[in-house]
Amino acid sequence: MSAARRVFALSLLSRGVLAGLYPGLSTDNHTCALQPQVLSCSEEAQPGLVDTCCVETFGGLVLQTQFWNTYTGLETEGQLLPKDSWTIHGLWPDFCNSSYTQYCDLSRQYDPAPYPTTTDGTPNGTVVEPWTGVPISDFIEPFGKYDLLAYMRKFWIGLAQDSQILWAHEFSKHATCYSTFDIECYGPTYVEHEEIVDFFTTAASYFQNLPTWGWLSAGGIRPSNTSYYSLEDIQTALSSGYGSLPYVGCSGPRYNATEAGAGSDDTGYTVLSEMWYYHHVYGAVQRGQALRVDASVTGGSVTSCATTPGAIRYYERTAGSHA
Ligand SMILES: *[C@@H]1O[C@H](CO)[C@@H](O)[C@H](O)[C@H]1NC(C)=O
Ligand SMILES: *[C@@H]1O[C@H](CO)[C@@H](O)[C@H](O)[C@H]1NC(C)=O
Ligand SMILES: *[C@@H]1O[C@H](CO)[C@@H](O)[C@H](O)[C@H]1NC(C)=O
Ligand SMILES: *[C@@H]1O[C@H](CO)[C@@H](O)[C@H](O)[C@H]1NC(C)=O
Ligand SMILES: *[C@@H]1O[C@H](CO)[C@@H](O)[C@H](O)[C@H]1NC(C)=O
Repeated sequence: MSAARRVFALSLLSRGVLAGLYPGLSTDNHTCALQPQVLSCSEEAQPGLVDTCCVETFGGLVLQTQFWNTYTGLETEGQLLPKDSWTIHGLWPDFCNSSYTQYCDLSRQYDPAPYPTTTDGTPNGTVVEPWTGVPISDFIEPFGKYDLLAYMRKFWIGLAQDSQILWAHEFSKHATCYSTFDIECYGPTYVEHEEIVDFFTTAASYFQNLPTWGWLSAGGIRPSNTSYYSLEDIQTALSSGYGSLPYVGCSGPRYNATEAGAGSDDTGYTVLSEMWYYHHVYGAVQRGQALRVDASVTGGSVTSCATTPGAIRYYERTAGSHA
């Protein structure tokens, strides 16, 4: 960053015009290594009791979400899926009761295609204006993090859109709703965009520890255009890898709309496509010290898939769609 931009960032800080989750938060004294590493969603994880930069007090139920897609739609431009791996969707800060909010800081809105188009998803919410500036990937290069960019290009893949649009969407819609990625947390010498690099690094690091492809494969569940799988076997393989039960997401036709399921009352979906791994985190999510919890931790559903044995497809990728 140029000296002029750095001075601009500093003057913004000193004038206190930042609109993070906790307006008025000081930029001083956030040495998180000196703070107790309180567990998110525990009784003590409250602003006023802990440093909100050092303990997640806003979105304490952290979901590392992943996709299984069979194509990208941008193969001709070289956007391919990684071999033998699921891909990153995001790292979401849900509230402890599993509801959530989005686009929490419109001064950090870099999403060219906001969805929803208002902050609360209703016509009454604040409009989220599409970003028309440079792609968010341009913010990473000045930090010299070409290794991070290469990892993201390999594992964080958009569907029918340039991957950098997905990255910008994930940052502005979700990462702005963590207390620990607030700009004030980075101190009085904050360099513009450093929390973006920090967020992408953190999301990539959680993903690296959650090898869905390998866990399923160890349970004998591999992409196949001729096999049919059972949700229960998928859940068993994942629980044995993860140690807790993730949310298993399916898309495609509902079971009762398939030939085999005609007349069935199983209305679950039949094409395996998403995985959500739930965590509570000790201290800031950036530290990577997480407690794995069941997707049922707040009492919600743990799948959108059909439960009938043999109802689920786990499709092979399209020829030419993977690296
Ligand atoms: C930070 O800590 C120092 C030393 O305890 C204290 O003097 C100062 O007031 C604190 N700064 C803020 C903004 O709280
Ligand atoms: C869930 O928690 C959030 C944040 O504390 C709160 O605003 C919301 O009202 C809660 N929702 C429900 C359904 O309890
Ligand atoms: C929007 O606000 C109006 C007036 O306050 C209210 O009647 C309406 O229910 C709101 N609509 C939504 C979708 O929240
Ligand atoms: C599947 O079940 C749902 C819910 O009962 C029903 O609305 C839908 O019409 C059914 N679909 C088919 C193809 O039977
Ligand atoms: C497997 O089936 C899926 C879904 O129909 C399709 O998109 C994909 O191209 C197929 N893969 C191969 C290798 O045939």
